[in-house]
Parts: sequence; C-alpha cells; structure tokens
Amino acid sequence: MKISKKCKIGIIGMGYVGLPLAAVAAKKGYEVYGIDTDKEKLKIIAQGKSPFKEDFLEKLLLKVKINVSADPKILKKCDICIICVPTPVDEKYYPVLDPVISASKAVAQNLKKGALVILESTVNPGVCEDIVRPIFVAAGHRPGRDVFIAHCPERVNPGDPKWNVGNIPRVVGAFEEAGLKLAKEFYESIVDAPIMAIDSIREAEAVKILENSFRDINIAFVNELAKSFGRLNIDIVNVIKGASTKPFSFMPHWPSCGVGGHCIPVDPYYLIEKAKSNGFDHSFLRTARAINNSMPEYTAEMMQDLLNDVKKSVKGAKIGILGLSYKANVGDLRESPSYKIIKLLEKIGAVIHTYDPFVLDKSTAKSLAEILKKSEAILLATNHREFKKVTAEKLKQNKILVVVDGKNFLDKEAIKKAGILYRGIGR
Ligand SMILES: NC(=O)c1ccc[n+]([C@@H]2O[C@H](COP(=O)([O-])OP(=O)(O)OC[C@H]3O[C@@H](n4cnc5c(N)ncnc54)[C@H](O)[C@@H]3O)[C@@H](O)[C@H]2O)c1
Repeated sequence: MKISKKCKIGIIGMGYVGLPLAAVAAKKGYEVYGIDTDKEKLKIIAQGKSPFKEDFLEKLLLKVKINVSADPKILKKCDICIICVPTPVDEKYYPVLDPVISASKAVAQNLKKGALVILESTVNPGVCEDIVRPIFVAAGHRPGRDVFIAHCPERVNPGDPKWNVGNIPRVVGAFEEAGLKLAKEFYESIVDAPIMAIDSIREAEAVKILENSFRDINIAFVNELAKSFGRLNIDIVNVIKGASTKPFSFMPHWPSCGVGGHCIPVDPYYLIEKAKSNGFDHSFLRTARAINNSMPEYTAEMMQDLLNDVKKSVKGAKIGILGLSYKANVGDLRESPSYKIIKLLEKIGAVIHTYDPFVLDKSTAKSLAEILKKSEAILLATNHREFKKVTAEKLKQNKILVVVDGKNFLDKEAIKKAGILYRGIGR
C-alpha cells in the first residue's frame, strides 16, 4: 500500500477526536467513512452538522463530506482505519478497554488486506501489543503483511481557538518499519505540523500518558498550594503571575474547583494500573489524583463556611451554579466537577439552580439574569466567557451575599468592595 489521496479512510468513533480528524482528512482530499455505534450522532453528522459545539469544526463540516455508517462492513473498502473510541475508567478508576477491544474486532473482521490500522485512543503502554495486535492475529491477519498497526496519540484540545487537529504536531509509533513509514506519511498528508516517528509503539503510548500526567501533577501541586496559601492569606493567582515572570524553567498551572474532561482525570489511572500489574506503585501519580479529586469537596465546604459567615445555613440556601461543563466555552460534561459539587451541596440541603450557556438543556435557569435573580449565593464552576458579565454591580443588584469563585475568574477586589463575601481557590 502507498499513501495517496486515493486511499479511503475509515474512522471508528465520531466524537471529539474522530470527527475533527475525519473533517480534516476530508478537507485534505481523502474519501472518509465515519463509523459510530451512536446512530443519533451519525444522523447529525450526515446533515453536515456537529453533535457538539466547536467553531472550527462547524465551519469545516459545511464544506466537506463524511460518509457515515453504523455498519463496520464499510471498512472493507478502507485502506486506513483509525480507531478513536473512548477509554474511560469505571467507578473504581479501573481502565475500561471494552470500546477499544470491540472497535479493534470490528476492524479485524472487516479488514482490507494490507491496510494500515491506527489507534488514536489514549491507552497505557502495552495495549497495542497485548490487546490490539492479538485481535488481528486471532482474526487470521499477519502483522507486517496483511495489516500494519500503528499508534498516534491524539492531542486535540476542544474549544482551543489556535490549536486543532490540523496544526498540532504528532508522534507516531508502530510495530514494523513499514507501518511506521505509512503512518508518518499519512499524518504528514493531513497535518500542517511536524510528525515525529518514535522508536516503538509502547513509547508512543507512553508519550500521551506522560503529557496528561504532567498536567495532572502540576495542577495537583497548585491545588495543594491553593489550600495552603488560603490559610496564609496569600493570593495564589498573584503568586503564579509573579513566578511566571521567570523566563525559563517555570510553566504556570492554575488551581480550580476540580479537574474534568475525558483525559486528565482519567489517563493517569491507565498508567497507575498498568504499573501496578508490573509491581510498581506510582505513588506520586496517585497523590496527584487524590488531591485533584478532593477539590469539589473543598469547594463545597468553602461555600458552606461562607454561608455560615453570613449567618445562613446551607440547608435551604439558594445557590446558583454557573457552569456545568468541565471547561470554558465547550459543552462537554464528562467528569465535570460541577456535578460533583452539586451532589455534595444537595446532600446537605442546598437548593441548587444551574446555568450553562453551552448546556442549556441541562440548566435549570435559561439565562444569567434568571440565575442571579433566583440565587443568594453564587458558585462559579466554569470560566465561560459569558460569566465575565458577572460584575460586582450585578451581584449587588441581585442581593447575592456570597460568591465562591471556583476558577478565580471574577473581579475579587470589586466584589469584596461591594460588601459581598468572596473566596476563590487559594485567594
Ligand atoms: N476529548 C478530548 O479532548 C481528547 C483529546 C485527546 C485524546 N482523547 C482520547 O481520544 C479517545 C476518544 O475520545 P473522545 O473525546 O473523542 O470520545 P467521545 O466519547 O467524544 O467519542 C467516542 C465515540 O466513539 C463511539 N464508540 C464507542 N465505542 C464504539 C465502537 N465500538 N465502535 C464505533 N464507535 C464507538 C462513541 O459512540 C462516541 O461517539 C479517548 O481515548 C480519549 O482519551 C480525547
């Protein structure tokens, strides 16, 4: 097989990773087939729309054609099959590889001889070798002849106005030299950025886990500092801004009411579990996870304390939660700290109202004005741009007594000056 625009591309999993990839490949001139088990999602994509809000993607989908199907038989005509299915953890934080297994089986059962198969889902080192390749061998395919398996971890950052799948550099690993060459050439044909071929498929798997564990650990560090600085009457935001003036060896990370999304609170567990099965305890990663997992509780307790300070019981207090999604200006609810905070506050009797401009169908209030009117305390959980409109003046007009700023996003000084009790995370 040779990489050329004549190659047909099959993408399994039309989510935050697979759909932008499909759109970019189609834009570069490939014939693209998108497979998903979610038929509703496929219907939306077939109309040239995105099932989730993403500016660059919505514009692109108007211009390109993606052939969608729930039937993996369509893969029989594909020269390149790319697996972009979820890799979550269960309630005990154990990796759930079922989607990777079922998608790999679907590809193996419908493989065009000599096809390139790329796993883009985030996995721990060893998944391609111990799980994916044996599925193809069991289906009668000879690796390096009938099938070339590669791994190229995805780095998309939904909602990012600058970086998208079309311009983020990539790292690829494969079992055989020929597969590595094919995978590198393919990504070079769709991505306008350098593609690095790494020595082994395990190293490619490890790259992604390193990137997201790095983020998790650094966020845990500033979250821990936030808890400590809060007691020392030091504003951590000012401290981080101060440290950021150092032009080398420092990278700012910011504390918050919790870490959400499908990657950072999930991926480190893949390495933790894999290492455990090899007799190694990643105590540093486990500590980071525990600190970040503690932030919703820390934030809910902060709200309870502030309400006490204004002589209000949390029981029956009307608390407005600003933001349901885990991150600014996107509607992704996966692992969102908002829901954890809501659950904790409801458990102790708070009356919760919610407003998220990106998730209106799940919001109890349909506008910022409505939630401010209904609340006596505000907890900002997501830094959506619309929440910049939450000024001291508006809070005062709506008789808000308490503000917990879970993203350190609001004007602390102005809110305090207006006589409203304010606390951020570490400020
Ligand atoms: N979301 C991100 O920002 C991001 C960034 C980098 C890497 N990743 C990784 O990429 C992978 C995919 O994440 P995502 O955010 O796109 O997930 P997603 O849930 O948005 O999309 C996955 C899609 O796969 C479909 N699916 C599940 N099992 C299937 C199967 N057997 N056959 C066909 N379709 C199937 C689901 O219906 C869903 O539409 C994960 O491993 C994730 O960790 C995600």
